[in-house]
Amino acid sequence: LQNVLRSGRSGSLSAPPPDRSNGALKIDVNPPKGTRDFPPEDMRLRNWLFQNFREVSQLYGFEEVDFPVLESEALYIRKAGEEIKDQLYCFEDRGNRRVALRPELTPSLARLVIQKGKSVPLPIKWFTIGQCWRYERMTRGRRREHYQWNMDTVGVPEITAEAELISAIVTFFKRIGITSSDVGFKISSRKVLQEVLRCYSVPENMFGKVCVAIDKLEKIPIDDIKEELRSAELSEEASEELLQVLSVKSLDKLEDKLGAAGEAVTDLKRLFSLAEEYGYSEWIQFDASVVRGLAYYTGIVFEGFDRGGKLRAICGGGRYDRLLSTFGGDDIPACGFGFGDAVIVELLKDKGLIPELTHQVENIVCSLDKDLQQAAAAVANILRGKGQSVDLVLEYKPLKWVFKRASRVNARRLILVGDAEWQKGMVGVKVLSSGEQFEVKIDELE
Ligand code: HAM
Repeated sequence: LQNVLRSGRSGSLSAPPPDRSNGALKIDVNPPKGTRDFPPEDMRLRNWLFQNFREVSQLYGFEEVDFPVLESEALYIRKAGEEIKDQLYCFEDRGNRRVALRPELTPSLARLVIQKGKSVPLPIKWFTIGQCWRYERMTRGRRREHYQWNMDTVGVPEITAEAELISAIVTFFKRIGITSSDVGFKISSRKVLQEVLRCYSVPENMFGKVCVAIDKLEKIPIDDIKEELRSAELSEEASEELLQVLSVKSLDKLEDKLGAAGEAVTDLKRLFSLAEEYGYSEWIQFDASVVRGLAYYTGIVFEGFDRGGKLRAICGGGRYDRLLSTFGGDDIPACGFGFGDAVIVELLKDKGLIPELTHQVENIVCSLDKDLQQAAAAVANILRGKGQSVDLVLEYKPLKWVFKRASRVNARRLILVGDAEWQKGMVGVKVLSSGEQFEVKIDELE
């Protein structure tokens, strides 16, 4: 483009020729920074991953939903100073509406729940797999677009909902070969922070801001965090107490600090005892420092982490009982999680757990004669009609080429349409694994 602009500006015949071939501009063949193409081998892996997401969600009785990738920008404008707001891909469309590529799926889900109103009986159990866009600083497993698997339950105030969601993720991990010595879940509740803030009479409306600030611990200097806490109306003393509580790593110690009667301790104890019933206790641990970076969480929060400590969060979620009212709806208790497609693939690579996925067709069909191309197409049609996949050789090719192709597409059988057999209403069949060869009547092809 710059070449074109340069030559346009000079308007001179002696300007250096723009970078053109056949009169066309040469484009950068890489996708935009932080985004991905999915050539077949990557698409196979993605399909395998999504298939597992889908099957696990269905095992738990969840129904699939979807939303537009482009949403109204207002869905993501919250006042708590979240990172996600600064990472928005947003613009004005041709009708002067402010729109954004969705950075996450939860606001869309909340929008749809409000729109459906009472027509959907509670509890809602929905899952979705969708592409999200965030203008992130790129690190391993963090990209500018990623796919997220979400499972959300709407209408259940009980901790049984969180327990069920974590169970689903554990089931997913087990299916793909990940064990509790590879990954774990850090679990806490935002009510821990709430109880501390209440002691220091910090206004309720500062809660989201405080959580978002705390989530930046270990990401930005502590003095900057203290500054953010000051701006959220926390006294020096309250900040110190808050940071103290966040270092607590056991439920017993938390109980010592907050007492046994509060909701934070009660909820967490309930979750840990449900985990025992489900049989996934060894996967979870209490860690008060987990708050997650989104302002809308109100109760239990959790994140999946790799025990090797090399990767960023594998998944994250929690309870968000008050999100709907921020969009003008009536609040309904809700919780859910988001599980990205990028970090998990890095982990699978590290563990040597990427499955071997090959392209496969049942039949490759070719004509042995240029004039029999149409007959070969008819044979392919018959097989496809019986539900068999066929790679049809579309041009006349020597047999050597066909065998090479058959091996590349992992065909099980080679179907040869030759003149002599065709006259008799038959085709030649070669089973490629055994080399066995025979002739079959066309209408008896299976
Ligand atoms: P989140 O913690 O922002 O939560 O993201 C959830 C997960 O999405 C992360 O743990 C990670 O696996 C993946 N993820 C996020 N950003 C990126 C990125 N830039 N590149 C690759 N992967 C990424 C949410 O989005 C909530 N809406 C989840 C939720 C659903 N909470 C309740 N329901």
